[in-house]
Amino acid sequence: MAASVLLNTGASIPPVGLGTWRAEPGLVGAAVCAAVKVGYRHIDCAPSYGNEKEVGLALEKLFRDGVVKREDLFVTSKLWYSNNAPQYVPEAIQTTLDELQLEYLDLYLIHGPIRLEKGSAPTPENSLPCDIPATWAAMEKLREAGKARAIGVNNFSCRKLEALLAVARMPPAVNQVECHPGWQQARLRELCRSAGVHLSVEHRSQLTAHHGTLPTGICSVVLAYSPLGSTAAAGVNAPSVLGHPVVTSIAGRLQRTTARLALRWGLQMGQSVLPKSTDEARIKENLDIFGWSIPEELMAEFSEIEQACSLHCSFLCIFAHLMFLFVRSCSYCCFSLYLPRPSRVPHHIDLFPWCKSSRLSCSEQSSE
Ligand SMILES: NC(=O)c1ccc[n+]([C@@H]2O[C@H](COP(=O)([O-])OP(=O)(O)OC[C@H]3O[C@@H](n4cnc5c(N)ncnc54)[C@H](OP(=O)(O)O)[C@@H]3O)[C@@H](O)[C@H]2O)c1
Repeated sequence: MAASVLLNTGASIPPVGLGTWRAEPGLVGAAVCAAVKVGYRHIDCAPSYGNEKEVGLALEKLFRDGVVKREDLFVTSKLWYSNNAPQYVPEAIQTTLDELQLEYLDLYLIHGPIRLEKGSAPTPENSLPCDIPATWAAMEKLREAGKARAIGVNNFSCRKLEALLAVARMPPAVNQVECHPGWQQARLRELCRSAGVHLSVEHRSQLTAHHGTLPTGICSVVLAYSPLGSTAAAGVNAPSVLGHPVVTSIAGRLQRTTARLALRWGLQMGQSVLPKSTDEARIKENLDIFGWSIPEELMAEFSEIEQACSLHCSFLCIFAHLMFLFVRSCSYCCFSLYLPRPSRVPHHIDLFPWCKSSRLSCSEQSSE
């Protein structure tokens, strides 16, 4: 695998990691073994994926068989929403470490700026106020205790990232967000760049090449999840990334598969990528993205791809749409004197088309 990317902790993170979300029990262990055997050195896990125990068994076997040493593998896991409060952080990481059969994680991430009631389903009515600075302080203690060698966040918008950076003693090393040709996170990148919080893979390599060491101040790496667009494909309003005409056309001209093209695009955009597969041939294919590149003029063609709302945005829109329906039904019942009756509600107030067509609105809402 190509050179790793340096984090602001001084540790390095491999540019490609195996995703394990929706990797079915019974298949995920074999996928982890196959991935490590073909050269993956990063496994992205989370307790919410429901398979950390099987991943742990696979890791234990790989270490026991001498396929890889613990210190040569980068393992990421996440703090789930229902543990997003300082008092739950130590127990949550310990559960994950026990499941994965590890002494430490290379990276531990807050799964999102969301808190849910303990043991509850992820629905709006189960959400609680979330004190990110307090949770972050507990995450910093994990780093000090050596349980997590780096700490970071998932699904943080620039606004949330900036708010965290303003109070963090240790700046997050990583912001893991959905990113692929169909959801390029242009605004997030731009804001991160202008705020000086995003140093890309290439930029960071150039920095180390020129300066030898990296600044350890405010910097974080974008770690792209759903790099093949699977989340978008599941969304109500998202086209398939791998089947998009621009992607298929460039892939054809470069004689690469669309999956490899999407992953290579991610690397060239300056992020680490986390493709998920439980299929051995695809696991291998998804690592075959080094030693060639997408020429600049073809990279430019990716900007022609219409940007879809992320699944997060879709959820927000569904929620907003339900709220709208609720308010509208109230107009029938109690407040008919004060609120417009449905017949008077303008037809253009339809949140789904608004969400679909407004790139800015979508990017503002994604990962918030
Ligand atoms: N932090 C977060 O909130 C968050 C959210 C979502 C995901 N993630 C992480 O990111 C990882 C990847 O994201 P993802 O699982 O959404 O999806 P993804 O990697 O974008 O796509 C996975 C899908 O693409 C298929 N696939 C894999 N390689 C392929 C290839 N070469 N050609 C064609 N199809 C291929 C897989 O099927 P097969 O398995 O059958 O090959 C699977 O259906 C997750 O597993 C998880 O670790 C994190």
